[in-house]
Amino acid sequence: MKLLLVVAVALIDADNRVLIAQRPEGKQLAGLWEFPGGKLDAGERPEQALIRELQEELGIEVKEACLAPLTFASHAYDDFHLLMPLYICRRWQGTLTAREGQNLAWVRANKLRDYPMPPADIPLIPPLIDLLM
Ligand code: C5P
Repeated sequence: MKLLLVVAVALIDADNRVLIAQRPEGKQLAGLWEFPGGKLDAGERPEQALIRELQEELGIEVKEACLAPLTFASHAYDDFHLLMPLYICRRWQGTLTAREGQNLAWVRANKLRDYPMPPADIPLIPPLIDLLM
């Protein structure tokens, strides 16, 4: 089975809320909410990929030193196995903008379950509750 490495981040604001983004129409899993991030390009380290994705998707600049690994998701979809480390980040520069037209929501960790997520993302919620609640 093909392995896919995707890197994701929980951006955390001053009120300890977490940012999630809704997958737009036309993409796989459209309408589901996810932690921002994406696939690694060839030769990229996970942190570099996150920094690039956050610039592309949200228009913010993140320093590598502000990314801390929290946990790791591993989920077998029908056609591939997804490995997805989750980082946390509390500091960034620039104004957060939905650059791909995606809906964004700032959510308390204990309310994340109210937002339908891809199956790979759901096991990432309890470590965030432990960290933030
Ligand atoms: O975001 P992208 O479509 O490039 O991600 C590739 C695949 O990885 C998605 O179709 C989805 O199955 C999975 N994925 C996920 N949770 C995420 C991001 C991606 O399950 N937060």
